[in-house]
Amino acid sequence: MINEKIKKGIQQYSEELTAIRRKLHSEPELSWEEYETTKFVSSYLTELGIEHRKTEPTGVIAEIKGGKPGKTVALRADMDALPVEELNTDLPYTSKVKGKMHACGHDTHTAMLLIAAKVLNENKDELQGNVRFIFQPAEETGRGAGKMVEQGAMEGVDNVFGIHIWSQMPVNKVSCIAGPSFASTDVFTVSFKGRGGHGAMPHGTIDAAVVASSFVMNVQSVVSRTIDPQQPAVVTIGKMDVGTRFNVIAENAVIEGTVRCFDASTQDHIEKQLQIYAENVANIYGATSKVDYQRVTHAVINEEESAKLVQRVAAESFGEETVYYEKPTMGGEDFSSYLEKAPGCFALVGSGNPEKDTEWAHHHGKFNVDEDALATGAELYAQYAWAYLTQ
Ligand code: NI
Repeated sequence: MINEKIKKGIQQYSEELTAIRRKLHSEPELSWEEYETTKFVSSYLTELGIEHRKTEPTGVIAEIKGGKPGKTVALRADMDALPVEELNTDLPYTSKVKGKMHACGHDTHTAMLLIAAKVLNENKDELQGNVRFIFQPAEETGRGAGKMVEQGAMEGVDNVFGIHIWSQMPVNKVSCIAGPSFASTDVFTVSFKGRGGHGAMPHGTIDAAVVASSFVMNVQSVVSRTIDPQQPAVVTIGKMDVGTRFNVIAENAVIEGTVRCFDASTQDHIEKQLQIYAENVANIYGATSKVDYQRVTHAVINEEESAKLVQRVAAESFGEETVYYEKPTMGGEDFSSYLEKAPGCFALVGSGNPEKDTEWAHHHGKFNVDEDALATGAELYAQYAWAYLTQ
């Protein structure tokens, strides 16, 4: 099922792969600002003679037409960095931009997909179909994938595959489970309006601090008391903004939070419950409430056939022991936007290695990867495309 020429090609370019990753790592760009990264990807593809176009405001869509007719498989890499200060200051490729860092490993995804494109291009005459390459911006906003889909990234695509490097998994393990793998990500804001006043005379006021606190405590029951314990769900309130001064009773309170789950009926249920709790808590105190609920990304649900294909490719290419089972995460991924257009799956490639200090959490200032994982990721991209088109 796998192609030995692809394997050799990836090995041959492993130094270049590391060099590209390091270059991208040292020059991080935030979501929607990936102008230099886009330019770099575009010029690299131009040099290879791979047809591509830039998307707005950033991003690249490329395609290799195979020598034989067949289906089209899309491979996706994200390119954005985070507003995180890099704490690995002794690396030769430490971020050169203060306060910005590739703390989620998207630099590795871009590098791996470029090398996969290079090797697939060298073998294009034998390809039975086409490979689309999606270099997307702004994954961290949850909106980058949708923007690429709007600009035609998935037109004519039969199957889509993506990779995330994963520091929480041992280096070179590959996990792709069928079914739910990343949760849906919703964002909500609840605003309460009471009546402010003097801190010494509460009786004439409606204290928004008390209303908001009551809401935060009560809403904990939504997950613990109204949702099937077999159905994972999280309601987190990450921010409360209330009041102005120690002796002034607050008139307004604004609460921000996020909801994570895997299934649409749970999502609908939580949205409704937040409304009910906000309204009723406000009523008790004579305040008013307003809920704004935004659905940002759907859950990533891996199609069974595609997930099995990843497992088979990984076993054949890297050995049975490579195949790993990483449980679903409540984290979100906008890869779900592609899965709305075609079946496919999203795999994790382990990069955690205690000997290289690469087990730090994603989004942490000390996040880094064991670069041995790069070739695994690049080969997985290319072999998956090959296997999907050849099967
Ligand atoms: Ni990420």
